Amino acid sequence: MAEKPTLWITRKLSEATETRAAQDYDVQLNPEDRVFSADEIIAKSHEVDAILPCHSEIFSADVVARMSDRVKIIANHSVGVDHCDLAALKAKGVVVTNTPDVLSDATAEIALLLMLAAARRAGEGDRLVRAGLWDSWSPAFMVGTQMTGKRLGIVGLGRVGRAFAKLVQGFGMEIHYYNRKPLPQEQAGDAVYHATIEDLLPQCQFVSLHCPATPETFNLMNKERLALLPDGAVLVNTARGTLIDESALIDALRSGKLAAAGLDVFHTEPGGNPELAKLDNVFMLPHIGSATRETRDAMGFRALDNLDAFFAGQEPRDRLV
Ligand code: DGY
Repeated sequence: MAEKPTLWITRKLSEATETRAAQDYDVQLNPEDRVFSADEIIAKSHEVDAILPCHSEIFSADVVARMSDRVKIIANHSVGVDHCDLAALKAKGVVVTNTPDVLSDATAEIALLLMLAAARRAGEGDRLVRAGLWDSWSPAFMVGTQMTGKRLGIVGLGRVGRAFAKLVQGFGMEIHYYNRKPLPQEQAGDAVYHATIEDLLPQCQFVSLHCPATPETFNLMNKERLALLPDGAVLVNTARGTLIDESALIDALRSGKLAAAGLDVFHTEPGGNPELAKLDNVFMLPHIGSATRETRDAMGFRALDNLDAFFAGQEPRDRLV
């Protein structure tokens, strides 16, 4: 029988994923779930044919240049691949895949949670009750912003953006979107297309970001763009922290230009931004958009499907380079 390919799974994945991986690969696991340094990633690359990493492992141009040629494929357990220098990996001849589709619903759920929580001051309310400081009630108490019937701007009507648009249908929101190109009607539905973000933002009392992190989208929501939003708008980000200039966001939240923000992602992860954490009108989660049992299994299986195809000499379904 031919030898199984050697696979390094960098983080602790779902039990079902690890069990399946062990059937088909000579697998190296990380039961302690520790984060490996760049030097350790490079050292590991000499021992394995394939790596199944998460967004926590950074494959910068420098790391890729120092990696062994033994690694033939990086099958990411993530849809976002901003942790991979794709050009460097392509130049080295390493195949790279990701896990689209399977996390769209889970991430859309978290976007909805963030939007409601930010708009209705859920974090503030929870902290108040928990601290035993809830000592009065009046009609003027903890008044928030209603989602129902408002205009929602979706920046990036890709898979997650579309899942989110579907989810908010019950709120009777008027959906507007920005994409580099308009989508066919069967995908966009009734959503109104805007050819520029500058055109979209002034229309939207709620905005949710669903585009990938690239050099072009770095600090996409900067001071100038935040200023284009109607006063009292609510901004949500489940995509990547680098899409928002956090100091401009802090100014907008402090001044009341934004009523609130809901964030699952930050420039610095893990950890977040201590200055944002001082503000009551921001609701934050620790990058858990795709963290459901169902989605973790589906992400693991999708990454393994990509590996299986590659080692069977077929084109992996989610090949990026
Ligand atoms: C993704 O898949 O990109 C999620 O952010 C988890 O890594």
